[in-house]
Amino acid sequence: MTGGMSPAFGVLVSGNGTNLQAILDAIHGGTLRARVACVISNRTDAMALERASRAGIPALAIRHQTFESREAFDRALVAALREHGVDWVVLAGFMRVLTPELLRAFPGRVVNIHPSLLPAFPGRDAQRQALEHGVKVTGCTVHFVDEGVDSGPIIAQRAVDVQPSDTLSTLSERIHAAEHEVFVGVLRDIADGRIAPSNTAQRPRG
Ligand code: GRF
Repeated sequence: MTGGMSPAFGVLVSGNGTNLQAILDAIHGGTLRARVACVISNRTDAMALERASRAGIPALAIRHQTFESREAFDRALVAALREHGVDWVVLAGFMRVLTPELLRAFPGRVVNIHPSLLPAFPGRDAQRQALEHGVKVTGCTVHFVDEGVDSGPIIAQRAVDVQPSDTLSTLSERIHAAEHEVFVGVLRDIADGRIAPSNTAQRPRG
């Protein structure tokens, strides 16, 4: 991305793609000055691929099972992302942990959305974990991605109250609605230059 130009996002997905849809809708509606250069799923059956195709965006399935290692899978992702001129990598429901192969190719330019107020409830089933712990407030987090699971520097969060009557589906639905707003907001800040790449990407840990 060069000065003043809108960035090209490469969106990685594994599932339904409602966050992807919120991003596409914001771009289409003129409230997010960026473009989605490609959408890549590790699952061929992801609804998100259909959403991308419908929007006329290159939709690729790269199945992780066909690679001998996480690194080899990540190298294939990097090749595809570079081929499409991607500046920033956006994880929108992507269910694989990334290795330095990808993170070094896009230093400080990989962001993820997670359905809890991190560092609470990382990993899978964050909404279920919140219900099981009986927390009264949960929410969602957008963060820079590092080699851990849902562990990089936090960019933005939104709290969502847990109601006594909440089920997994009612709570998940409210968190999802919050995710769409927060994620698009962060991507708008990136697109408009208010958020810069994370400079912690290569800092040694420990
Ligand atoms: C979201 O809850 C996101 O936080 C998590 O995966 C889910 C993806 O939802 N990482 P969708 O595919 O965008 O609808």
